[in-house]
Amino acid sequence: MLANSLELRKKGPRIRHLVEAAEPYRTITVEPLTPVIGAEISGVDLAAPTPLQLEEIERALVTHCVVFFRDQHMTPAQHLNFGRHFGPLHLHPAAPHEPGMPELMIITADKDSPRANGEGWHSDVSCDDEPPLGSILYIKECPAQGGDTLFANMFAAYEALSDRMKTYLDGLVAVHDGELNYRGTYANFGVQDKPAYPRAAHPVIRTHPVSGKKALFVNRGFTRGIQGIPVDESDAILAYLFEHAANPLFQCRFRWQPNSVAFWDNRSAQHRAMWDYWPQRRYGNRVTVKGDRPR
Ligand code: SIN
Repeated sequence: MLANSLELRKKGPRIRHLVEAAEPYRTITVEPLTPVIGAEISGVDLAAPTPLQLEEIERALVTHCVVFFRDQHMTPAQHLNFGRHFGPLHLHPAAPHEPGMPELMIITADKDSPRANGEGWHSDVSCDDEPPLGSILYIKECPAQGGDTLFANMFAAYEALSDRMKTYLDGLVAVHDGELNYRGTYANFGVQDKPAYPRAAHPVIRTHPVSGKKALFVNRGFTRGIQGIPVDESDAILAYLFEHAANPLFQCRFRWQPNSVAFWDNRSAQHRAMWDYWPQRRYGNRVTVKGDRPR
């Protein structure tokens, strides 16, 4: 298990080499969902993965931006341990968690919910100075239809920008703010608001710390403005980029079953949860892995 960020930094170049070499996987089966984003992984028990399987899962994650697993049976401790293989765990600034397990976030909605988690396009907690590397959602209960999650590849979104737009965005920094998202949002779970929520400035285009590829890093959920340009210009550019990032060409859509797991890379993917299943119940837990400061 990784003890600290130094070990993570040492591991990065090896994973990058494996991604670039694109050799066949030896310990897992990886079936891409679309040519652009998402892959389903089989042949691994996430409750007890081997070191080589973990390395191959990380390589698939960096390659496909989000990976999916079916029929997994993990205890809460095993779910937390699976996350810790990829780095220290992140504590959500607002969301509810399982009793006594602050790193095991509750993701649920039912007939009494005023809202569901993650209904708009976002990258998790991008308002943190060091936004999460990735999130591992384990759904235990879900409706027979509905409650899908959509994912979008932000490398592809960056690549599809015009060269002039890429040049314009190069070096720009945007503010990501948690205030609007989090204040009062979890009152139905009995969560008390904090005096303040995270706010951070990040490059509009970030370089993935492992693959070295450029990704668009603004999202409708958290990004409030681009620094150093007039407000109306910032609003117009962000509106364009949010629309661009939501192009279905960059997306895949995952249909959950009980005991499915999705592991997404917040550095290269955005996601959006569909709340189309009211009054039915969907329940699961998310373990979130800490990330580094976007560059
Ligand atoms: C989230 O944004 O973590 C929620 C995703 C989902 O419920 O599908």
